[in-house]
Amino acid sequence: MDNVTHIKNLSAIVGAAHCLDAERDTRSYATDYRGVFIGKALAVVRPADTAQVSLVMSYCHAHDVPVVPQGGNTSLLGGAVPDDTGNAVILSLSRLNRVRTVDAVNDTMVVEAGVTLQEARSHAEVARKLFPLRIGSEGSCQIGGNLSTNAGGTAVLRYGNMRDLILGVEVVLPWGEVWNGLRALRKDNTGYDLKQLFIGAEGTLGVVTAVVLKLVPKPRSESTAFLGFKSPRGALSFFGALRKRLGQDVTAFELISAAALELVLDHLPDARSPLSVQSPWYVLAEMASGRAQEDLDNAFYEALQAGLEDGTIEDAAIATADSHAAEFWRLREEISDTQTRTGGSVRCDISVPLSQIPAFIERATESVLRIAPQTRMVIYGHMGDGNVHFNPLRPADVPPKEYLALAGAQINKAVDEIAVAMDGSISAEHGVGVGKRDELLTVKSATELEMAWRLKRAFDPKNLLNPGKVLPLLHTAEG
Ligand code: LAC
Ligand code: ZN
Repeated sequence: MDNVTHIKNLSAIVGAAHCLDAERDTRSYATDYRGVFIGKALAVVRPADTAQVSLVMSYCHAHDVPVVPQGGNTSLLGGAVPDDTGNAVILSLSRLNRVRTVDAVNDTMVVEAGVTLQEARSHAEVARKLFPLRIGSEGSCQIGGNLSTNAGGTAVLRYGNMRDLILGVEVVLPWGEVWNGLRALRKDNTGYDLKQLFIGAEGTLGVVTAVVLKLVPKPRSESTAFLGFKSPRGALSFFGALRKRLGQDVTAFELISAAALELVLDHLPDARSPLSVQSPWYVLAEMASGRAQEDLDNAFYEALQAGLEDGTIEDAAIATADSHAAEFWRLREEISDTQTRTGGSVRCDISVPLSQIPAFIERATESVLRIAPQTRMVIYGHMGDGNVHFNPLRPADVPPKEYLALAGAQINKAVDEIAVAMDGSISAEHGVGVGKRDELLTVKSATELEMAWRLKRAFDPKNLLNPGKVLPLLHTAEG
């Protein structure tokens, strides 16, 4: 069957207005938001509900049409865009954007895949609850994508990754059948926990259409500070001291190198550093608690005071209004997009055991500066989780393409090797997509890759669902 017939038949399922085939309409869906992964689509289909997703999947399965599920298209690794053959249909979940139910007693909420993270958080808020996943792209990214990539972000320290925030899923399987696994139970020990297979699978095993999310009580009090440190070692030692005093109330502990802060300050016209003293390293620390504001403030200030007195902390700014805290967070959250606009950064997303973070940063920095001496060391991220975005950035006077062509691959390899040598991960929270796919061959055993392919073949023997993602290609030859 030819593409024209496919488009006609898919239009009949979703309506002509929601089956886009003109290149000018499909282009933005087929290109990732950074403009790094540029594919082509046979068509973009936008089903209205689970029943239409099921019909689309049945059709594509019957006619061997590859399908690339897509949420907010904010992947950093090309996970949500097709290759450039133009053979695949992009299945956009954006119209599945209903909040189905909120159960404030059970602390759960059922939302469809296309609900944005921001909307999910706002709906929880209406019920005076918190849906705790927090990432910079919350206005665009969608719950289905958050689930499919097991999103992390800036509150993992306290609340865990997306995997920890999910109780149930509704999934359309590659052959079109719907599995209603929307159970809202915290205890259900009845065999294989199949929902886990779809979390972090990047849409290679099924299309998630709805999710049962866990809610938590909204904290009564919050306290946020921006801190200066001499070194990651100092920051780590303060993190330990802070946790000893405040335990679970430490919600975020985000490291920011001087080069990362400078980059944001240079590019955001109205931004200022919260601190009067410059330090080589900064930390954005956030506390949130069920106790009264005054109690939390006192405990936090005592910890800060002790850090300032023993010289661990060089300088501190405490947010005394919500607007200050929001400004601290803006400086932190804009780092990623600012790099995208600047171009020419090598994005390594590594994790190591927390104790190894300072040594990792030292070794990786030395290694990068040997490869490309003028590199700006943009290093930031979720230190409390042992996860840093180690993103060497081109010198200001070197064009992005030139820097990446000369040093990109070499830097990526060197940094990832150091992480692996420290028993770390080469992709802590951004997933695999196509960007990290083949590197998995060097870090996973043949046994682990074989298990993954067996799973893939069991669900999707025709390899039609998000083909070419997550699983290293060599193994596809085995069929
Ligand atoms: C962040 C994204 C890039 O932490 O993961 O800003
Ligand atoms: Zn991150």
